Amino acid sequence: MNCENESLIEIKDLKIGFKTPEKILHAVKGISLEVRKREIVGIVGESGCGKTVTALSIMRLLPDNTIVTGNINFSGINLLSLKEDETREIRGRDISMVFQDSLSSLNPLMKVGRQIDENLMIHTSLDNRDRLSEVLDIMDKVGLPDPEQTYEKYPHELSGGMRQRIAISIAIVCNPDLIIADEPTTALDVTVQAQILELLRKINRESNSSIVFISHNLGVIREVCSKVYVMYAGHIVERAPAETLFTNPGHPYTMGLIKALPKLESKGKELFDIRGRVPSIADLTQGCPFEPRCDYSFERCKKEFPDLKKIDSDHEVRCFLAGGIL
Ligand SMILES: Nc1ncnc2c1ncn2[C@@H]1O[C@H](COP(=O)(O)OP(=O)(O)O)[C@@H](O)[C@H]1O
Ligand SMILES: [Mg+2]
Repeated sequence: MNCENESLIEIKDLKIGFKTPEKILHAVKGISLEVRKREIVGIVGESGCGKTVTALSIMRLLPDNTIVTGNINFSGINLLSLKEDETREIRGRDISMVFQDSLSSLNPLMKVGRQIDENLMIHTSLDNRDRLSEVLDIMDKVGLPDPEQTYEKYPHELSGGMRQRIAISIAIVCNPDLIIADEPTTALDVTVQAQILELLRKINRESNSSIVFISHNLGVIREVCSKVYVMYAGHIVERAPAETLFTNPGHPYTMGLIKALPKLESKGKELFDIRGRVPSIADLTQGCPFEPRCDYSFERCKKEFPDLKKIDSDHEVRCFLAGGIL
């Protein structure tokens, strides 16, 4: 079988709700997505659309007041049915995550080298010497200068970019099948952002890891991903190969995200913004959640929720007009 086409993780009808004293608030409302081996898959959407809670549900890191239903099939096992100790075995070894804010995801009181080592200690039986050489190797691979010296540093002694390289080292040191990178470059300046993106591409090329790359920034998604899911208000509203998404976007929300991208020639001019804002998870609309912000909306959109419609073999859009006049 061609390994490029083999599925690694398949999410089916995932719903995530938060229990409150009055009711359950749904942050994710039945999403399905698939990541194949060695693929870099993007999830894009504005802040509050449910990207992070989706990632945390795969890692089983959501708080106790959460209700998660659906199926997350990872190499043949449903992650949602695992016990806590089984989850801990997989987390950090088979699936790992890089967060936006490495200052809060790293332990401020532990030397950074030790933090990479810790993951090896949990998941391998290597002895001290082998682990140390592995850690130094990884630090070198992710572009950290002078690994021996950097090993001894604490997170606050490193720059944001260096800290993110540490977080990436922790994530890759056990050679996981899947890396979930949640806005890994959002807190970094543009030059460092480009370096970290290149590093993630390199890791994907040189190891067998698939990557789920989460960002609110479609420009960044375009640079690294082969396939993209566009998320809006807890739903997948479009799925397409990255290039198709840009050349032939099918959903008005995707069109808005593309229009909002800063362009070289419009430097200094005011940026386009999609009017209105992402609905709160407490909002209960019957129709399309994007309707209040949509330039193409008509009566039906206020009352009915559109299905995902296939407009090409690998292109799906959740809009009544998709494949037609749009
Ligand atoms: N622990 C929680 N309890 C209640 N609501 C939450 C919790 N975590 C996230 N939410 C809500 O779920 C929605 C999706 O959040 P999130 O996944 O962080 O969005 P994104 O990552 O796309 O910006 C938001 O409205 C957020 O306020
Ligand atoms: Mg987020």
